[in-house]
Amino acid sequence: MRFFLDTADVREIETGLEWGMVDGITTNPSLIAKQGKPYLPTVKEIAELVDGPVSGEVLATDYEGMLAEARKLAALADNVVVKVPLSPAGLRAVRTLKAEGIPTNVTLCFSANQALLAAKAGAAYISPFVGRVDDVGWDGMELIEQVVTIYDNYAFDTEVLVASIRHPLHVAQSALLGAHVATIPFKVLEKLYRHPLTDRGLEAFLDDWRATGKGFDD
Ligand code: G3P
Repeated sequence: MRFFLDTADVREIETGLEWGMVDGITTNPSLIAKQGKPYLPTVKEIAELVDGPVSGEVLATDYEGMLAEARKLAALADNVVVKVPLSPAGLRAVRTLKAEGIPTNVTLCFSANQALLAAKAGAAYISPFVGRVDDVGWDGMELIEQVVTIYDNYAFDTEVLVASIRHPLHVAQSALLGAHVATIPFKVLEKLYRHPLTDRGLEAFLDDWRATGKGFDD
């Protein structure tokens, strides 16, 4: 499973890269707005920092507008993936951009049928938002299971990129279901490492050796 960081915060990205746990980045207009920096330069800065795919989202909602913005995003760096909202105009743009060799990540997916449409349009990635499905009392992981099953049934090339991840269980469940990618907020990535028994066990190991009064090289 590939781990993308779901952030536009360069400090979080640099830390994740140091940990060796960043295979790519996803941004969205809200995440970039939080940084208080210009839109395109922020995507470019991140794409130059990270070797893997970096998703930058169009702001237009009409077909021609999305194409124009997508081409500007794609021109920023070879690893930019263009995020497109799930709409008739959006998926029409996905088909056109694929023909131009520009990879897309179809975002704001909340149903299996939407994911099926995105795969038929030729998206490189589909982003089902598990957390937001949970937020309205449905089961976000059920959506992931449906999408993975449908994509396997028809051997679609589109990759399932689980988004709107809220906690470590979303990551583990996505991996158990065979999703290709999880895009993870930095605070959730930090939590993946943590377990109280690990902390307690390490402390006990070190205490036991400290009790001998000897050091590492004794
Ligand atoms: O990549 C999409 C993700 O950023 C949305 O997450 O927490 O706003 O639902 P959230």
